[in-house]
Amino acid sequence: MEVKADSRRFYEIECDALVAGVYEGEKPEAGVLAEIDKRTGGVITSLIETGEFTGKSAESAYVHNPGDMKARRLLLLGAGKQEEFTTDGVRKIAGAAARTLRGKKARSFAFLRHSQSPIGESAQAVTEGALIALFDPDKYHTSDKTEDHLETMLLVAGEGELDEVRRSIERGRIIAEATNFAREAINEPANVMTPTELARRAEEMARNYGLEFDALDEAEMKDLGMGALLGVAQGSAEPAKLIILRYTPKTESSETVAIVGKGITFDTGGISIKPSDGMEKMKYDMAGGATTIAAMRAIAQLKPPVNVIGIVPATENMPGGRAQRPGDIVRAMTGKTIEVINTDAEGRLVLADAVAYARKLGATKIVDLATLTGAVSVALGDVYVAVLGTNQEWVDQILAAGKGAGEKIWQLPLDKEYREQIKSEIADIKNIGGRKAGTITGAYFIREFVEDTPWAHLDIAGTAWNENGKPHLAVGPTGVCVRTLVNLVCG
Ligand code: BES
Ligand code: MN
Ligand code: ZN
Repeated sequence: MEVKADSRRFYEIECDALVAGVYEGEKPEAGVLAEIDKRTGGVITSLIETGEFTGKSAESAYVHNPGDMKARRLLLLGAGKQEEFTTDGVRKIAGAAARTLRGKKARSFAFLRHSQSPIGESAQAVTEGALIALFDPDKYHTSDKTEDHLETMLLVAGEGELDEVRRSIERGRIIAEATNFAREAINEPANVMTPTELARRAEEMARNYGLEFDALDEAEMKDLGMGALLGVAQGSAEPAKLIILRYTPKTESSETVAIVGKGITFDTGGISIKPSDGMEKMKYDMAGGATTIAAMRAIAQLKPPVNVIGIVPATENMPGGRAQRPGDIVRAMTGKTIEVINTDAEGRLVLADAVAYARKLGATKIVDLATLTGAVSVALGDVYVAVLGTNQEWVDQILAAGKGAGEKIWQLPLDKEYREQIKSEIADIKNIGGRKAGTITGAYFIREFVEDTPWAHLDIAGTAWNENGKPHLAVGPTGVCVRTLVNLVCG
């Protein structure tokens, strides 16, 4: 679907539907709502008076032949309480509108600005919301595929706002397409999305957008001493890859941000095997890696003035005759020894070597993201991403980037006391810390390999997969944190 700015008055725009948000309890007494009400012969007033439409969020009303305007339909969407409305509210409304109208076989619709947010911010959010909403994980349906006739979304804006709105639409489109690129990859089954395939997609993307690409094979990783990553990989018949993407700005920068994403293309648990119920979901254990590649895709187009490296340790975690055993001791690239108590705590093992490699490549700041722990769902459910880190300034920047992107992130503590839980009798560290504070001990383990480089870790295990569809979002991979990372790096 194409997104365009349009400075015509709303009633002059010929399209299948005009979309307007209405706050809870709002009366069409002033502004554009009053104009719509007048041109429709009081439809909004009547819907409100009969109680059919109150403006509560997720409510909608759909009107045919709405009167003195060129739009063939009017779609009103509840925006909820005005004092609680944020830019992310616009994103959700736009998403719900796009999904609703697609279901009604619309080809075009016009979105009326209806928010307190600055016009540019709002236009970006509407673009993101609509394009992210139109993604569906139905690639493998051979019949009953979602039909999409949508060709155009028009953002109604003032003449003087057009340039800004056009720039915002472009940014929104880049970010939404990157998000959907991640979702597409995450949704692939593990027999398709092997480490080799993930590397191939990263390479193709890099070629398309002008990034440097490299992928280390197992022999190269062995030469670098990446025993933690290779220990996980040794149980799999699929060769592991360490994917590296590099963005270099035109003007030289002393700063290098490394984004490191867990790329376990399937997590059986290894010898500490997972129960079979729900194991099929573990194809999404490469969400952090796909998100990293997707963020690099957007960064390549938005061209921020800082160096950025994306690193994805990609492997399966399989049981088998060659698999690592509980009790094995491996040596990470930094030289630290690790007692592998539970082979299902594999994410932190591959990340240990990947963050160390980020340092080797000259990272001045590191952010890793991973579907690392089931415990994060216990703590924060599917609402908040957890962030933990060693440098509060860096963590604060991530929290702010999340806020700006409409992604909820909550900081968990990482005090020294938690180190006790991952002490090993016979190695430098062990890979699990017991039942308590699982998300924190998982993060603490990674911390042991970043040395003094400012670092933060995002646990997206609870948020990377949407179990129940929402009006603005399909069931399946969410692509969470693409927006936050792009905001973090590009401002
Ligand atoms: N990939 C899982 C975490 C996960 C769980 C992601 C549920 C998404 C949904 C991770 O590798 C894992 O198995 N973690 C273990 C750690 C434990 C063995 C310390 C867990 O959370 O149970
Ligand atoms: Mn695991
Ligand atoms: Zn895992």
